[in-house]
Amino acid sequence: MRKSPESVQNRTSRSQNDAFCTCTFVQSGICSLNLHWDFFALIFGYSSQRTVTPYLGKNLERGDPDFGAKKMSWNLASGILLLGLGSLSAQLSPAQSLRNCGTARGVLIGTAVRPQLFSEGLYSRTLASEFSMIEPEDAMKWWMIRPEQATFDFTQADRVVEFAEKHSMKVRGHTLAWGWSNPSWLNQNSFTTEQLNRLLQEHIERVVTRYRGRVFAWDVVNEAFDEDGALKASLWYNRPGIGFAGKSTEYIEQAFHWAHAADPEALLFYNDNGAETLNKKSDAIYAMVKDFKYRGVPIDGIGMQMHIFDLQADSHSISKNIARFTALDLQVHITEMDVAAPVDTMGRASAADLARQAEIYRAIASACFANAGCSALQTWGFTDKYSWIGWKTKGAKGNALPFDRYYSPKPAYAALEGSCAAKQPASLHSSPQ
Ligand code: XIL
Repeated sequence: MRKSPESVQNRTSRSQNDAFCTCTFVQSGICSLNLHWDFFALIFGYSSQRTVTPYLGKNLERGDPDFGAKKMSWNLASGILLLGLGSLSAQLSPAQSLRNCGTARGVLIGTAVRPQLFSEGLYSRTLASEFSMIEPEDAMKWWMIRPEQATFDFTQADRVVEFAEKHSMKVRGHTLAWGWSNPSWLNQNSFTTEQLNRLLQEHIERVVTRYRGRVFAWDVVNEAFDEDGALKASLWYNRPGIGFAGKSTEYIEQAFHWAHAADPEALLFYNDNGAETLNKKSDAIYAMVKDFKYRGVPIDGIGMQMHIFDLQADSHSISKNIARFTALDLQVHITEMDVAAPVDTMGRASAADLARQAEIYRAIASACFANAGCSALQTWGFTDKYSWIGWKTKGAKGNALPFDRYYSPKPAYAALEGSCAAKQPASLHSSPQ
């Protein structure tokens, strides 16, 4: 998806007002109703202004002998009706959301998902209302799709794609070739180079073809470089690899060619972590993709994962890095953003840390929104109830996402929303410290 800068619009306020209540922060079926005086006045018949009340098609006047009883019953009925309508509209898609704001700006707002959670009402409703793109957190990885050498299992991956189609969302596929997340039969067996070559080709062909026209973008290769910019040793590269060990990025190139052959319309991305700023790793990736573009290797974009573990982000460097990749006519997707905070034994983070976290979300989102080539902003999950950070940090950190564990929006959500709504992205070059 290319951004159209013309589509950038001012967002209106998130609050929805009617005569009786203010629904602040409508999202995902949660609406905190602030009842106005008028609401009580309606229910209990206290009206300082009106002496005529409509009642079943007639006007009811103060002189009517049944005025009190009829008015009270009318008031109760209409109050209940209004409450019902209010809660119904709160549960249906809200007028304002990250999704709508991103759409107006021409940026996809995405999140990683776990299909086994779709049955949880708040999970699905929040997803559908707040996001325009989903990516399976694990469901399209090798270990999920190919648990045994003889078995392809697309059950969970299909559920992600079906959910997206039902809710008019895009699907990002993740990931076709990675040194991690491979099934044990693949890791443990000593396949030859030729066998590995055939296995990877078959996998890419089979998976990409199955979702042709339904998955709009793929992370073709994930995390191939180390922090010094050298290629990581891996099954696909040199252990023993698919036939290009010691041949620089040729194995990556091969994977892109296979993916392109299987779906020429799909956008193909190289995805990595720790390469969000200008550094040795991003330099190596930059050199690779520049070479790919020059030689016509089918690559469309770069995924910047954006896992932030220390409540610090150099948004100035990130902006420059985004700019150099987009200058190559590549799209940038922020693919896996989360901002981990230290947590206590109950999983709580301090208010100060949540405020710092929010500023980081704001700065990164603003860096993306400011660059027309940054076409998707995705978080790695959306509720603190389900995040990989606790597992990754052995419980030391968490609370990393825009919604808390009860699906209430956090300061980070407001920061994302504010950044999206801002005409000129704020704090573009300030480093949140
Ligand atoms: C993580 C998932 O979130 C976990 O559920 C899984 O156990 C391990 O992988 N970079 C990636 C993602 O590209 O696929 C990883 O996802 C997080 C780091």
